[in-house]
Amino acid sequence: MKWPDSVTLKEVGPRDGLQNEKKVITTEDKVAWINLLSKTGLTYIEITSFVHPKWIPTLADAMEVAKAIERRKEVTYAALIPNQRGLENALEANIDEIAVFMSASETHNLKNINKSINETFPVLRKVVQDSIHSRKKVRGYLSTVFGCPYEGAVEIDNILRVSDTLFEMGIDELSLGDTIGVANPKQVQEVLEILLKRFPSTKIAMHFHDTHGTALANVLAAIEMGITTFDGSIGGIGGCPYAPGASGNVATEDLLYMLSNMGIEVGVQLSDMLSAAKYIQKKLGRALPSHNLQAALAVKE
Ligand code: HMG
Ligand code: MG
Repeated sequence: MKWPDSVTLKEVGPRDGLQNEKKVITTEDKVAWINLLSKTGLTYIEITSFVHPKWIPTLADAMEVAKAIERRKEVTYAALIPNQRGLENALEANIDEIAVFMSASETHNLKNINKSINETFPVLRKVVQDSIHSRKKVRGYLSTVFGCPYEGAVEIDNILRVSDTLFEMGIDELSLGDTIGVANPKQVQEVLEILLKRFPSTKIAMHFHDTHGTALANVLAAIEMGITTFDGSIGGIGGCPYAPGASGNVATEDLLYMLSNMGIEVGVQLSDMLSAAKYIQKKLGRALPSHNLQAALAVKE
C-alpha cells in the first residue's frame, strides 16, 4: 500500500459539534474557540449553520459568530445552508464557502429538513446556482450513505441518484456522511468502488461519525480507495439532532495523530489542536470522546 503524501482535514466541530450539545456556548466563547482553531494550521473550518434557530437553537447566533471571528487568509470559513434564506444570511455574514446538505434516505431527509428528496432538489439547485453567482465554492453533504436511523440500509441507487444530482447542480465536492456512525471498512470500500467510477476521488470527502468506534478504520479504508479529504470534529463532539443515536464525528486530533505518525503531511499542529480541544471541553463541562485529548490530560494529571 502506498499511502498518500498529504491529506486535508476539514474541521466541522463548531457546526456539527455544537449543534448536538445541550449546553449552549456563548457567542464570545465560540468566537474565541474558532480563533484558536484558525491558528492550528487547519485550512477549512465549518464555523456554524444558517438553519432555522428553532430547529438548531445552539447555533442561533450564526451571524454574530461569523461577523466576530478573526479571519485568516489561509483558512476557508464555511457554513451549512439549507435554503435560500440561509444563503442570504451566509452571504451577509461573508461566509467563504457554502455547504448544502440532504440525505440519501427519504425519512431522514424529511425529519431533518422537512422536505422529501424530490422537493429538496429545486431548493438546493437555486442555492447552488446563486452561490456560484456570488463566486462562492459549494460543498455538498450527503447524509445516511451507510445507514439511516429510520430506514436502516440505504440502496446504492438512492445514493447515486442524489450524488449525481448534486454534482450536476454544480457542487465542487461531495462529503459522504456516515450520519449515525454505522459504517464498516468493507462497506466503505464497496460504496466508494461504485461512486469512484462516476466521480474523481479529489471530489469526494468522507464524514464519519464514530458511534461504534469504526471511524478511524473507515478512514484508512477510504484512503486505500484514493480519498484524501476527511471531516473531523475537534474533541469528537457532534451528531445530528434529527438522527437518533448519532454520536460525534471522529475527533480531528485523533485523525491528525494517526495520519501524521504514518508520515502523511496534514499541516496541522497537534499541540494547538489539543489546546483548542481542552478549551471546548472546559466550556462544555464534560469529558469529550477524543482519545488524544484524554491521553494528553492523563499525562498531565
Ligand atoms: P421549514 O419549517 O419547513 O421552513 O423548515 P419553511 O421554509 O417552511 O419556513 C418556515 C419559517 O422558517 C419561515 O418564517 C422562514 O422564513 C423561516 P416565517 O415566514 O414563518 O416567519 N426559515 C428560516 N429562518 C432562518 N434561517 C433559515 C430559514 N429557513 C426558513 N435558513 C428548514 C425547513 C430547512 C429551515 C428546517 O428544517 C431546518 O432548519 N433544518 C435544519 C436541520 C439541521 O440543521 N440539521 C443538522 C444539520 S445536518 C447534519 O448534521 C448532517 C451532516 O453533518 C452530514 C452527516 O453527518 O451525515 C451535514
Ligand atoms: Mg455530521
